[in-house]
Amino acid sequence: METRTVPFFNYPELYRQHQEDFDIIITDVLSRGAYIMQRDLFEFEAQLAEYLNVKHAIGVADGTMALLLSCIAAGISEGDEVIVPSHTFVASASSIHHSGGVPVLCDCGPDNLIDADSVKKLLTSRTKAIMPVQLNGRTANMDPILEIAEEHGLKIIEDSCQALGSKFKNRFAGTFGAAGTFSFFPAKTLGAFGDAGAVVTNDSAIAERIVGLRDHGRDHRTNTVTQFGFNARLDNLQAAILMYRLSKYDDYVKYRRGIAEIYQAALQEIEDLVLPPGPHADADHFDVFQNYELRSGRRDELRAHLDQHGVGTILQWGGSCLHQFSALELRAECPNTEILTTEFMMIPMNTVMTFDDARYVSSLIRSFYGLPKDFEA
Ligand SMILES: Cc1ncc(COP(=O)(O)O)c(C=O)c1O
Repeated sequence: METRTVPFFNYPELYRQHQEDFDIIITDVLSRGAYIMQRDLFEFEAQLAEYLNVKHAIGVADGTMALLLSCIAAGISEGDEVIVPSHTFVASASSIHHSGGVPVLCDCGPDNLIDADSVKKLLTSRTKAIMPVQLNGRTANMDPILEIAEEHGLKIIEDSCQALGSKFKNRFAGTFGAAGTFSFFPAKTLGAFGDAGAVVTNDSAIAERIVGLRDHGRDHRTNTVTQFGFNARLDNLQAAILMYRLSKYDDYVKYRRGIAEIYQAALQEIEDLVLPPGPHADADHFDVFQNYELRSGRRDELRAHLDQHGVGTILQWGGSCLHQFSALELRAECPNTEILTTEFMMIPMNTVMTFDDARYVSSLIRSFYGLPKDFEA
């Protein structure tokens, strides 16, 4: 059988892919001395707001700061409970914690996303907000979440860090509630060359609060400090890179969906696997495939097989969900997530691998399950 190496993510290739263009952008920004809060940042913010059809996009240092500033600006404070899935990055919960709130962990459903029934069971008089996590490039079924929020007067703060461009019923992830957050970590669907993030909102008061919070609480119009803030600005150089990459974003998404189609065609007949819904599975969802997270009853053996043949895999969050980190002492009710952590794994999904790489990964998985390595895709 053919052998090749398919790393989980090839970081140098991210630069090499458009090296000439990046060199021009970097030289331009540096020779203008445009390091902090310059026109590239404001242009990127305008471009992102237009792309997502929202009133405000505010560039910040990273996805974690996007979440923290959103929690503060949405009014989360001492003792407020915020319901968030356990199947998420610790940054979702730590942003709630650092704003003074209490993260209350809910379960996920069969699509690995927030489970509305689990949310309902956790509501108390202290519940202030729900933080759906739009994981793996897919937006949750937001209808029941919006209903719960409406009925109980709760804010929605979306952790859409993994879901730029993903939609539910034609509405973009990040635009369902008070604020939506994005991470531009290099391996994200829109990756910077370092840390970067953004908040989006249609609420002008929240936007104004965040513009101040990201820059030491200063108000540049009046040259005063109006609140205690942070240094959480998005670097201007990263903004210039992101602007370039956002102009190509639809092509990146198309490419990822192409890889998902290959995996879907090759792997759907394998009973032991639970795959993410295919790119054309239903009309309500448009997925951008930040990750390709599947479930296998023979997960550890399958990973070892792929590793032996040069294919990198990853367990999201290092293999544990938030309720399993005992040091965090989080209140949780997550039986489905508990099982999920014994089965979930991610195979390569990015725009620096080739479709042939995806076919190679697929063939290896098929041969692991005793199927002929060839398939139609
Ligand atoms: C779901 C989720 N939330 C929050 C974050 C935090 O983003 P950042 O690493 O840019 O701080 C990430 C990044 O991996 C994430 O995947």
